[in-house]
Amino acid sequence: MSTVIEDLVARKVLNSRGEETIEVDVVTTSSFGRASAPSGASRGKAEVVPFPQGGVDQAVRKVDEVIAPEIVGLNADFQEEIDRTLHELDGSKNFRIIGGNTAFAISLANAEAAANSYGLLLFQYLGGYVTHELPYPLGNVISGGRHTSGKTPDIQEFLVIPYGAESVLDAVIANAKVHKRIGEILRKKDKLFGGGRSDEGAWIANIGNIEALDVLAEACEEVGNEVGFECGLGLDLAASTFWNAKQKMYVYSREEKKRDKGEQLDYVLQLIKNYHLVYVEDPFHEEDFKGFAEITRKVKNCLICGDDLFVTNVERLNRGIKIHAANSLIIKVNQIGTLTDAWETVETAKRAGYIPVMSHRSGDTCDWHIAHLAVAFGCPIIKTGVVEGARIAKLNELIRIEEFLGERAKMASLPIS
Ligand code: PGA
Ligand code: ZN
Repeated sequence: MSTVIEDLVARKVLNSRGEETIEVDVVTTSSFGRASAPSGASRGKAEVVPFPQGGVDQAVRKVDEVIAPEIVGLNADFQEEIDRTLHELDGSKNFRIIGGNTAFAISLANAEAAANSYGLLLFQYLGGYVTHELPYPLGNVISGGRHTSGKTPDIQEFLVIPYGAESVLDAVIANAKVHKRIGEILRKKDKLFGGGRSDEGAWIANIGNIEALDVLAEACEEVGNEVGFECGLGLDLAASTFWNAKQKMYVYSREEKKRDKGEQLDYVLQLIKNYHLVYVEDPFHEEDFKGFAEITRKVKNCLICGDDLFVTNVERLNRGIKIHAANSLIIKVNQIGTLTDAWETVETAKRAGYIPVMSHRSGDTCDWHIAHLAVAFGCPIIKTGVVEGARIAKLNELIRIEEFLGERAKMASLPIS
């Protein structure tokens, strides 16, 4: 058989933050696949454990000594079997023995090796011939919260999504224009603005939440007029990062304001209305399923997305679906470990009418796999920044996929307007 795995090689590499992470090569009789794991700065509590005790060194050792002997000899075609074997070798519920990032890198490198053995691109191999819908790029243009330090907004991410674009290329260029325009506006507003950027390439500025939204709105409108299609506004509040469980308050340090649950709901609803937000991620902390349900009931044409809330975990998603908490979710494969697990979550989401958003992590590598996963899994949105090398790697791959699909390429449809 041509797809029998002959070797599994793990090594320590760095991510875009300069942190150590794991990269894995899967070698089959006729092909090769490689993947490295990203890592988050505002991780959900219910995510799998990224590395075993002992960190990346221990993860690499586990691949050499424990995992490779079991995986070598299996067939890369059987993704589910590979992923099941990883679970069995780990034996825990949260990959704390081998590390979720170890499982992630093996799972993805395996899929790529299988695709390569057939001479197919990863999205074709996973999605099949009929796959032809492309996601809208959603990206961070102003940073705050845990992605920054100093006098920045409390809200973690101010986002743009050019949902009126007719192609990926147009959309990616529009996002870059919005990013550039924001830089110009910030420079004019603040003579001390130093042009600093966060891990995801978004601007770091000494402004508050409302000021940041005003700047974003101005840039989106100007660029929208220039390119001739709608560039929508979004936020990732990452509210768990400023939720004080003892006080039961959302603590906005920059604004020197605290908001209880009800005030938080009113505040976010007001922002959605005033700025015509089409996307709001994690407006409540990660255990407040009811808060998510309440806000979802009260909005129209706006995606309420769960990231830390669901952590790509199908059990947590099902809990949300039962009470209609959120109408969208972030898919970060390394929050759950393997491709099979992530796919199960995506399937469940789609059946329930939730919009899956394939996402990078703030510390990422130049791997482009998520561009293929977004297309293959039918995610109408890909959240992967706007500028910065690790983000551009994914966006450029998406442009190549669009070119490859040619006339068959079609932008996904989105329930926002
Ligand atoms: P991360 O989170 O820093 O954990 O990648 C980014 C996000 O909240 O979307
Ligand atoms: Zn998030």
